[in-house]
Amino acid sequence: MSDPLLEAKNLHKQYTNSHKTVEVLKGVNLHLEKGEFIAIVGPSGSGKSTLLHLLGLLDKPTEGEIVLNGQNTIRMNHKELASTRNRTIGFLFQAHHLLPEFSALENVMMPALMAGVPKEEAATKATGLLEGFGLEHRLNHRPSELSGGEQQRVAMARALINDPDLLLADEPTGNLDRSAGLELLRVLLELQERLNRTMVIVTHDPEIAAMAERRFKMVDGHLEEEI
Ligand SMILES: Nc1ncnc2c1ncn2[C@@H]1O[C@H](COP(=O)(O)OP(=O)(O)O)[C@@H](O)[C@H]1O
Ligand SMILES: [Mg+2]
Repeated sequence: MSDPLLEAKNLHKQYTNSHKTVEVLKGVNLHLEKGEFIAIVGPSGSGKSTLLHLLGLLDKPTEGEIVLNGQNTIRMNHKELASTRNRTIGFLFQAHHLLPEFSALENVMMPALMAGVPKEEAATKATGLLEGFGLEHRLNHRPSELSGGEQQRVAMARALINDPDLLLADEPTGNLDRSAGLELLRVLLELQERLNRTMVIVTHDPEIAAMAERRFKMVDGHLEEEI
């Protein structure tokens, strides 16, 4: 337990809709070392996406705190959060959220440009990532001209362009057929091994969960490690 990348302490999250309050997370604790690959499973509606949003600093907990790279994120303002996200965290969602009017290459370059990387350098890096995912012949295709598996690999290249310390994946294989899903996982695993990336993957697929080093289950607002 020498080198924590992320420490989530006593996370609570409740949503209030008109007159009803739902408590989704009821005290989640998570300690992630650099280079760890964990999987989170649990029934639909149990709060897995809610937790990933909190870990990814896209939303704030009702109570509790998240320490990322030794920095407590709770008191960060909107701008600091956005910049920390951009530099430190990569997201991969079930839906790829690629921008339809831009090419694969432009989609991947976008976070780098937002981080202030010069255009040429961003293009070189994005090209390299896309080549690494076997998409060298798809650089100038728009998302609608790509298969589901290809779109998800473009989304992964985009998630990785700023060399994030932490990759958060929310059912990334959910829209893919089985072989494309497993192929995506193989790419993720290779990245973890080669670049020592820390990864949290939410999945319904027991075979994918089995690839992780540690498995957690979301149960009644708590995260339980499966031993
Ligand atoms: N923005 C929101 N406003 C109100 N309720 C929400 C919101 N996001 C999620 N929820 C509710 O929180 C619960 C957990 O949702 P979610 O985290 O998406 O679960 P999972 O990803 O495990 O399927 C659900 O009951 C959902 O309806
Ligand atoms: Mg979800």
